[in-house]
Amino acid sequence: MGIFILRIAVFVSGRGSNLKAILDSRDIQENIEVKAVVSDKIDCPAFSIAQKFSILTFSVGNKIGFMNYEELRESLQSLEVELIVLAGYLKLIPNNFLSFYKGKIINIHPALLPSFGGKGMYGINVHKAVFESSAKVSGATVHFVDETYDTGKIIMQRCIDISDVKSPEEIADRVLNIEHEILPFVLNKFAEGKIKIVGKRVIIN
Ligand code: GAR
Repeated sequence: MGIFILRIAVFVSGRGSNLKAILDSRDIQENIEVKAVVSDKIDCPAFSIAQKFSILTFSVGNKIGFMNYEELRESLQSLEVELIVLAGYLKLIPNNFLSFYKGKIINIHPALLPSFGGKGMYGINVHKAVFESSAKVSGATVHFVDETYDTGKIIMQRCIDISDVKSPEEIADRVLNIEHEILPFVLNKFAEGKIKIVGKRVIIN
C-alpha cells in the first residue's frame, strides 16, 4: 500500500484508452483513486469505462443537461480531487477553473512538444502533421496545463523511431503505446510527491 492516496479526476472527450491504462495500472491501484471522469460530451466511450469501474461521471459545458465549470469545481472539491488529468480532453479549460487548480492540471499530448501542439492539434491531426513533416521520431508528452493549448511546462517525454512508418495511423499506434506507459508512470510519481517545478524545469525524482 502506498502511504498517500492521490485523488484524481480524469477529463476525456472520446475513446478513453488512457483512462483505461490508468485504471489497469497495478502501481496506480495502490497510490491513486480516480474519483470522477469528466467529459465535454453527454456520453462517450470513456464514460462506459468509468461506469464499469463504478466511477462518477460528469458532463461539463454550456448545453442543457450539462453542469457548468463552477458546479464542476464544487463537485470535484467535495470529492477532494487533488489533481486533474486531461486524457484526450479537447476543450480549453476556462481561466477561473484553471486558476483554482493552478499547477494541478496535467495533459497528455501525442507528440513531442513544443512541436506539433496548439489549437486544432489533437488526435490524428497531430500524427498527420508529424507524418507530413518527414520527422524521424515522434513520441508523447505529459505537461502542466496553462492558459493556452500545449504550452505548459513539460513533465515527461518519451520518443520513438518512426523512420519506417507508412501512415499517420501507424504513428498514432506507436505513440499511443507510449502514452499508456508514461501517463501512469507520471501519476505514480505525483502520488509519491516526486514531481517538483524547479525554476523553468520540472524535476522527477
Ligand atoms: C490521445 O492520443 C491523447 O494524447 C490525445 O487524444 C487521444 C485520446 O485517446 N490528446 C490530444 O491530442 C490533446 N491535444 P484516448 O481517449 O484513447 O485516451
